[in-house]
Amino acid sequence: MQRSQPRGYSLHQRPTASPTLLTAIVLATIISKFAQVVKANPNYSPLGYQLLDTYEGTSIFDQFYYFSDEDPTKGFVRYATKETAQDLNLTSTTDTTAILRVDSSTPATAGGRHSVRIESKNRYDSGLFIFDIIHTPVGCGTWPALWLTDGPKWPSNGEIDILESHNHGSHGNEMSLHTTAGCSMDVARMHSGTTLSDTCDISSTANAGCTVVGGPATYGEAFNSNGGGIYTLELRDAGIRIWFFPRSLAPSDLNNASPDPSTWGTPLADFPSTNCDIASHFRNLSIIANIDLCGELGALPRHYTEMYNCPGSCPDFVANNPSSFEEAYWEFGSIKVYKAL
Ligand SMILES: *[C@@H]1O[C@H](CO)[C@@H](O)[C@H](O)[C@H]1NC(C)=O
Ligand SMILES: *[C@@H]1O[C@H](CO)[C@@H](O)[C@H](O)[C@H]1NC(C)=O
Repeated sequence: MQRSQPRGYSLHQRPTASPTLLTAIVLATIISKFAQVVKANPNYSPLGYQLLDTYEGTSIFDQFYYFSDEDPTKGFVRYATKETAQDLNLTSTTDTTAILRVDSSTPATAGGRHSVRIESKNRYDSGLFIFDIIHTPVGCGTWPALWLTDGPKWPSNGEIDILESHNHGSHGNEMSLHTTAGCSMDVARMHSGTTLSDTCDISSTANAGCTVVGGPATYGEAFNSNGGGIYTLELRDAGIRIWFFPRSLAPSDLNNASPDPSTWGTPLADFPSTNCDIASHFRNLSIIANIDLCGELGALPRHYTEMYNCPGSCPDFVANNPSSFEEAYWEFGSIKVYKAL
């Protein structure tokens, strides 16, 4: 952050200043500092929101593309086309839920187990996103995420990871931003999660991004056995904030025509615009849900072996243990996107 001198005064040039002038100088300095602090904090004053898109019900998957290219993050996975996903029942719906799962029936797989990665056809520059999540994927070898990005324009249009975990996922949900240069969170923030890293620029962090982690009940078995919960994301010029509510504690205005984040208390993660121009770093984003297998994060020895004590090599395990993927599924109630008025 650039720190500018209070304009128009210099103590060194006025050694014989009168007490009145000195008082004025001190006051001006204090006011100037105060002004800097106020300016540094993002303006999170309430925006009015109105419903833009609803993702739910039996036609929910029509609102997404099925990404079936080779995994860009080197997973031991084959992302299914829509046809394969239907044949293997990897995506299924009821009136009130949508499930995306890893193939847990094919006994042995070569070149990767089938899984799903869906990307919303609609794209967003900003908005309030409400994710009703019933079940998060868990199990050795998994690397699931619910995130926003612009695939062809990654990383210049940014990446927001709302939920991300790996293996048994009981260490808490990881929320991250990944950007090009010029986006840092080394600033005052208001959140209840634990900051793991401040530099969002992928080139200076080996793509780790800037991450905040929630408590153990924010992901995985503890989250699932509670019947899941609600994650909300507010993406606006002032910053990016993520809240998590266990289902029983969800704010009542989530079902209103115009939910108001200013009534929701401290977010789980706060990524303010203080040192990051949100509007230029985050654009044209699809909503993506996927379950990668092994890959750059899931198969890391310090995750797969050391943190979760998963057996042998990740690809061997994934190839040959179908029943270990019975809990490797996302189940959503709905996703709603609101836009600022
Ligand atoms: C497909 O999966 C869903 C969700 O797990 C399940 O309820 C349904 O019975 C399955 N359908 C078939 C044809 O196996
Ligand atoms: C957003 O991304 C899509 C898909 O890559 C592209 O077709 C579209 O032109 C992009 N829109 C903008 C405004 O960049």
